[in-house]
Amino acid sequence: MRVVMIGTGYVGLVSGACFADFGHGVTCIDKDDDKIARLKQGLMPIYEPGLEAMVARNVAEGRLCFASEAPDAVAEADAIFIAVGTPSRRGDGHADLSYVYAAAEEVAGIVAGFTVLVTKSTVPVGTGDEIDAIVRRVRPDADVAVVSNPEFLREGSAIEDFKRPDRVVVGLADERAKAVMAELYRPLYLNETPILFTDRRTSELIKYAANAFLAMKITFINEMADLCEKVGANVQQVARGVGLDKRIGAKFLNAGPGYGGSCFPKDTLALVHTASDSGAPLQLVEATIRVNDARKRAMAGKIVEALGGDVAGKTICILGLTFKPNTDDMRDSPALEIVPALQRLGARIRAFDPEGREARVLLPGVMFEDGPYEAVEGADAMVLLTEWDQFRALDLDRIGALMRTPVVIDLRNVYRPDEMKQRGFAYSSIGRP
Ligand code: UDX
Repeated sequence: MRVVMIGTGYVGLVSGACFADFGHGVTCIDKDDDKIARLKQGLMPIYEPGLEAMVARNVAEGRLCFASEAPDAVAEADAIFIAVGTPSRRGDGHADLSYVYAAAEEVAGIVAGFTVLVTKSTVPVGTGDEIDAIVRRVRPDADVAVVSNPEFLREGSAIEDFKRPDRVVVGLADERAKAVMAELYRPLYLNETPILFTDRRTSELIKYAANAFLAMKITFINEMADLCEKVGANVQQVARGVGLDKRIGAKFLNAGPGYGGSCFPKDTLALVHTASDSGAPLQLVEATIRVNDARKRAMAGKIVEALGGDVAGKTICILGLTFKPNTDDMRDSPALEIVPALQRLGARIRAFDPEGREARVLLPGVMFEDGPYEAVEGADAMVLLTEWDQFRALDLDRIGALMRTPVVIDLRNVYRPDEMKQRGFAYSSIGRP
């Protein structure tokens, strides 16, 4: 199949590279000339394990190429994916669809023959209908089927999620489009991945419903962790005890500083707007957003408390700044709330993150160090904020010796309370005695 991917952000680039790896011919298009130039040199705009090698292999074998515009590829494509950003619209939290509509308008003017136009970007219910209307308006004669095919890629394991997904969701009404989509995902039939064909609106909603449910699940266990702290219970064992119930499931029950990232905050917000506009407000999701926002702010208080109620003039070392490990993404990271809050209270912040380079711009006044041991030197407290693997195997005796006072606040429950105590740390974590 001949595929065009519009947008070389996280989703577009990973999806494009994976479709090429499936054996399809893929052209990835992006308006950002610099990005395209760098991709042509094999330089990735994001950090994602395995991506660079996969791109290099598929480029070398002639199945993947990059261009800032490629009218020939668009005209010849069997399927064109729109994978541009849908950021929260400034001021009102609705998804900003201007990039999606602009892409649809542009390709509509070029397509030739039967073409499947697929939205991979996360878009509110009804966007497919709007795209359909745009295509009909620009090219009443065009033979285009508009399809919804949401992504469920987690940053850090996006390739695995693309190639071994729990399911693929496809929303459409056209039998020819169904055949094209089935052919595109044919390699997944071999490992018996469920492919759910449904209508377009349902498909669009499934994406939001899945993300909202996961955000709610995390928020549920986070509140349970607060309760555990009050009543002397252990949230990890609560999570295990409830997660073993197959109806609940063990995943996404790790209590922490609150969810962040490019999807959950933005998508939950867009969903509650869609819901209230439609007269069916989603109160559980509204509460999830509220509780999660408050939680990120409350984490600074937890750190202050561990330091005896006053952080003025104290040095706090933060390990991990990205919203989760194995990504360089800082979007809506709890660090963006916690660090400025501590700075306002007069704390000096030293930090280390393996990939979060953007933090240098987003977090002014922070001293960035080259490694965990450098960052912890002379600190009054160490906060483990993002659970990168390299922080799981720290030489804790060395850490203790480097710190001014051995106070550790573990916001990801990476260490064992008994062991930390034994090593002489004043240790606090999330929802554990
Ligand atoms: C998410 C969805 O998982 C993915 O399917 C979707 O398409 C895009 O959004 P992503 O944002 O990359 O993926 O990260 P994810 O692994 O889902 O984590 C999101 C946030 O939840 C992170 O801040 C993470 O630290 C937090 N989290 C996750 C928890 O606090 N506890 C958990 O148990 C799981």
